[in-house]
Amino acid sequence: MRIVLLGAPGSGKGTQSKLIMERYKVPQISTGDLLRAAVSAGTPLGQQAKAAMDAGELVTDDVVLGMIRERLAMPDTQRGYILDGFPRNLNQAGSLDEMLTDLGQPLDAAVLIHVDFESLMQRLTGRLTCASCGAVFNSYTHPPRQEGICDLCGGELKHRSDDNEETIGSRLKVYQAQTEPLVEHYGDKGLLHTVKGEGEIEDIFNNVSKVLESVGGSKA
Ligand code: AP5
Ligand code: MG
Repeated sequence: MRIVLLGAPGSGKGTQSKLIMERYKVPQISTGDLLRAAVSAGTPLGQQAKAAMDAGELVTDDVVLGMIRERLAMPDTQRGYILDGFPRNLNQAGSLDEMLTDLGQPLDAAVLIHVDFESLMQRLTGRLTCASCGAVFNSYTHPPRQEGICDLCGGELKHRSDDNEETIGSRLKVYQAQTEPLVEHYGDKGLLHTVKGEGEIEDIFNNVSKVLESVGGSKA
C-alpha cells in the first residue's frame, strides 16, 4: 500500500500516520521528521535545511528528493509506505511519479485530510510531541494525562520550534501557494480521496481506513 497523505500544517497527517502504521504495518515516511533529525544531528544536510524550516519555507527540492530516494530504497518499504509531508509542490510530485514509474510501484491513493484554516493555528500552537516515541498531543484538544509527560512511554513532551505564530503563518501561506495545487494533480490522476479532518481522531481514522481498504490496503 503506497499512499501520499496530503493536508495543511496541523491537519493531522502525523497523528493519522501513526495509527495507519500500527494497523497496516507500513512505515511513515515524513520528510519533516527526517529533516528535523538531520537538524538535531547537525549534519551538512541539516545545516542546509535549518534556515528554511525556521522561516516556514520549503527546503530545496534537491535536498528533499535525495532524502526520499534513499529512504524508499530501504527494505522496510516492501509492503508499502505512507508519505507524510511529501510531495510538497508540483516539481516534487512529478519527480515522485517518475521515481515510482521506474520502480514499477505506482501510488495507490492520495488522501487529503481537510481542515478549515481557522482551527489550524490553535492545533499548532498547542501541539506537544514526545521526544522519545514521537506520539503527538495537544494542550488544548488532546492533553496528556500528566503535564509534560507522554501517556504512551513516559517520555518528555516538547513544542516544535516552528510552531510559533509567525512561522505558522508562513507555513500556511506556503501550503496554499505551493502544496494545494497537488489536490488537482492527484485529482486528475484519479487518485484523490478527501477525508474530513475535524472531529474525533478515531472517527477520522475510521474514514481514512475505509479509503485505504477501498484501494487494497490490508491489515498485517
Ligand atoms: P512538516 O513536519 O511536514 O510539518 P507540516 O506540514 O507543517 O505539518 P505538521 O507536522 O505541522 O502537521 P500535521 O498535519 O502532521 O499535524 P499533527 O498530526 O502533528 O514540515 C516542517 C517543515 O519541514 C516545513 O515547513 C518545511 O520547511 C520542511 N519540509 C518538510 N517536508 C518538506 C518537503 N517535502 N519539501 C520541502 N520542505 C519540507 O497534528 C497537529 C496538532 O493537532 C497536534 O497537536 C494534534 O494532537 C492535533 N490534532 C490532530 N488531529 C486532531 C483532531 N482531529 N482534532 C483536534 N486536534 C487534532
Ligand atoms: Mg507532521
